[in-house]
Amino acid sequence: MTFQNSQTCINLMRAFAGESQARNRYTLAAKAAREQQYPVLEQVFLFTAQQELTHAEQFFSCLQKHGVTNVEIQGGYPVDPVKDLQALLDTARQNELEEFDPVYPEFARIAASEGYEREAFLFRSIAAIERSHADRFAMFAKLMLEERLFSGEENGAWLCLHCGHIHEGSGAPTHCPVCGAVQGYFIRQSCAPYTCAGGENVCMG
Ligand SMILES: [Fe+2]
Ligand SMILES: [Fe+2]
Repeated sequence: MTFQNSQTCINLMRAFAGESQARNRYTLAAKAAREQQYPVLEQVFLFTAQQELTHAEQFFSCLQKHGVTNVEIQGGYPVDPVKDLQALLDTARQNELEEFDPVYPEFARIAASEGYEREAFLFRSIAAIERSHADRFAMFAKLMLEERLFSGEENGAWLCLHCGHIHEGSGAPTHCPVCGAVQGYFIRQSCAPYTCAGGENVCMG
């Protein structure tokens, strides 16, 4: 069996199509979040969109490495709800979960059975990443549903994604006292990227 005739070749192109779409879906969702004054959700979507681009790149490079020039695929792809952030978070979570199980594990199993170890590894590893994406979207969907995106934390710490100011209190301020950014820029410090867990004093040892 040549690579061109393998099921793995088709699955890689399906994965590339799905990841490429995910990137655009999240970029569009980020735009909707921005329009609705939720820069924090905009950043959640853009951060994830960037990772989907990398997934697409990995799958695409496998096809290139095998010298494939054209692959025909068939598939159904969902149309996301319009601009409803709660629904966008929910569908993102569902789509991620589907990739986590059953789609990519099945692709991995097939790749291994066809002797394509690197591809099997990629499908397995990216499945696990999609699970973490599903968890991320689920967490923000839950906070939004419970109206706790910007409040509801006793002794909470809230980080302004615009200037980095940390506000302590049960909720984020309506505007950042330092840079004036609207509340939508605030994120629980525990969920903020690149911050130290639990406010540990890393510099002072
Ligand atoms: Fe992905
Ligand atoms: Fe993902």
